[in-house]
Amino acid sequence: MYSIEALNLSHHFTKGERVLDDISLRVKEGSIFGFLGPNGAGKTTTLRLILGLLRKQQGDIRLFGKPFEQHRAAALRQIGSLIESPSLYGQLNAAENLLVWQKVYQCPKKRIAEVLDLVGLSNTGAKKAGQFSLGMKQRLAIAVALLHEPSLLILDEPTNGLDPGGIVEMRTLLKILNQEYGITILISSHLLSEIEKLVTEVGIINHGKMVFQGSLDELMERQQQVASLIFEVNRVEQALQMLADQHPTAVIVQGKLKLPALSNEDTAAITRRLVTEGIDVYGITRGDNDLETIFMNITNN
Ligand SMILES: Nc1ncnc2c1ncn2[C@@H]1O[C@H](COP(=O)(O)OP(=O)(O)OP(=O)(O)O)[C@@H](O)[C@H]1O
Ligand SMILES: [Mg+2]
Repeated sequence: MYSIEALNLSHHFTKGERVLDDISLRVKEGSIFGFLGPNGAGKTTTLRLILGLLRKQQGDIRLFGKPFEQHRAAALRQIGSLIESPSLYGQLNAAENLLVWQKVYQCPKKRIAEVLDLVGLSNTGAKKAGQFSLGMKQRLAIAVALLHEPSLLILDEPTNGLDPGGIVEMRTLLKILNQEYGITILISSHLLSEIEKLVTEVGIINHGKMVFQGSLDELMERQQQVASLIFEVNRVEQALQMLADQHPTAVIVQGKLKLPALSNEDTAAITRRLVTEGIDVYGITRGDNDLETIFMNITNN
């Protein structure tokens, strides 16, 4: 079962200029889905459409298996969201902020202490939200989003602006919400490195188009395909000719010998062969082998 099915969404703000072009996105119940893309790719626009914060122009949105338009109120009761920066009352403390929303949502008062504990803000006492660090503000905003016990959280760049420690804290919190409370999470980010340890499914958007959707493992597989091994040698032409029989896809790039990714054994064998034939090897590096490079490759094309 899917918590979110957004199919064939297209959207434009000014006439003719499509900021979303036939986007489809499926988020499985119980998963943590990472929605990735560079600045201006269309992440926030997509999330606002899914939440009904923007009027849909083209496409279909189903939430929890039902068409969103006809079941809007019921769907929104099951969703907690944080879009762009959190809107908090700076002059109120954490519990007072939550009290405002507890009245709006009409949920039991005891939820305030529960969510404060969940996000690790139980000990902030009288401190006003305006004096919170960015990480604390983000966590308070998530506490607000959790008050009415949603089964789906939609978070737009919740790690934006956080320092490495804050990012780890956020990741830990989201993992707990997913694993212990069974909450499905859709989280956007422009940095794969910030969420790769968290997500199971990934969608990558660029210039309003989905350029990849699949599991993190599938993304890693793609990574393997573009990964390479680079040999720095003294006589590169001769090295290329020598290896041509066994490695026909080897090429010379910027004076270096570039081969597809190889096992450690093959790497050692090539090195031995080069040295035996009197070619000096100055260095061996693995290229394009991190996920961030894959992300850059996918989004640059
Ligand atoms: N209200 C608006 N009016 C006109 N254009 C808009 C509006 N909101 C967004 N856009 C444009 O739509 C495109 C997608 O914007 P969007 O905010 O969805 O991107 P994003 O992926 O969330 O980017 P970021 O990582 O910077 O938050 C951008 O070109 C943006 O300028
Ligand atoms: Mg955005």
